[in-house]
Amino acid sequence: MYQIMKKEFLAPNIFSMHVLAPRVAKSAKPGQFVVVIADEKGERIPLTICDYDEKEGTVEIVVQTMGASTRAMARYEVGDSFFSFLGPLGRPSEFVSEDLDVLKKKKMLFIAGGVGTAPVYPQVKWLHEKGVAVDVVLGAKTKDLVILEDKLASVSDNLYVATDDGSYGFHGLVTDCLLDLVENKNKEYDVVVAIGPMIMMKFVALTTKKLNIPTVVSLNPLMVDATGMCGACRVSIGGETKFACVDGPEFDGHLVDFDEALRRQTQFKLEESEKLKAFEECEFWGGRK
Ligand code: NAD
Ligand code: FES
Repeated sequence: MYQIMKKEFLAPNIFSMHVLAPRVAKSAKPGQFVVVIADEKGERIPLTICDYDEKEGTVEIVVQTMGASTRAMARYEVGDSFFSFLGPLGRPSEFVSEDLDVLKKKKMLFIAGGVGTAPVYPQVKWLHEKGVAVDVVLGAKTKDLVILEDKLASVSDNLYVATDDGSYGFHGLVTDCLLDLVENKNKEYDVVVAIGPMIMMKFVALTTKKLNIPTVVSLNPLMVDATGMCGACRVSIGGETKFACVDGPEFDGHLVDFDEALRRQTQFKLEESEKLKAFEECEFWGGRK
């Protein structure tokens, strides 16, 4: 069993949990994820890792309550335990195995969108600890949905916050902020890492293609069970079939067939909404159904 040591709300419907899982905390690397099974009847929920502390033996996950499974997870409090906490899974970010001197000369920009900000933090933190300076664009719909701003500010060289409605920071989408940095502020980047909703990653990749900046994206949102067998996360990368959960989750953003990935994301919508309806009915009856 994996005990919850700390829980906090970061924004409406978004909470973080520090889970006691010493073996995962010891071997986790930037870019990897975990699969959480809340109770013995629960589903496998792939979740990105937001932070890990080898000394404390804890792994921090950030969850947005969307479907029945994440709504059920939100009921867990400090002191409760998850049935299973598998990981770390997936391939670590490519930069982890790059030559450090080469890495230090690169100008890297991370683009974090909404809940996708969570997996950006351990990547930027790792680079910061190795002496690599990086810039970060943090995008959210509104000011109250901006998460992890202080944590990211403490490990990035420059942090640019952008909100769609202009309620905080730069007024516009992350792609507008990126164009502003490159075209108006004369910023130059050798690589962009974009993590957020699929539609954001699609438009970041289209923008960086025009700007000729190599781009990495993370296809976590495609995953359903992360077993490598259900096929839900199948995606075409430069015409080759890959599975996000075993071959990724990170891929060359300029090679991803985003339209196929966006179609794939909608394939379980009906089942998800039926599950959510059943969960809500059960909640209404006080769990007696
Ligand atoms: P959101 O819809 O609030 O979007 C976040 C930001 O993305 C926006 O503020 C905007 O700047 C940018 N964006 C959105 N649409 C865009 C477009 N068409 N063009 C350019 N930029 C655009 O994000 P949210 O509601 O927090 O996102 C939830 C999604 O994030 C979930 O679907 C989840 O699957 C995904 N997610 C992804 C990862 C990952 O590893 N890629 C990790 C966690 C969550
Ligand atoms: Fe099922 Fe990858 S999520 S095969």
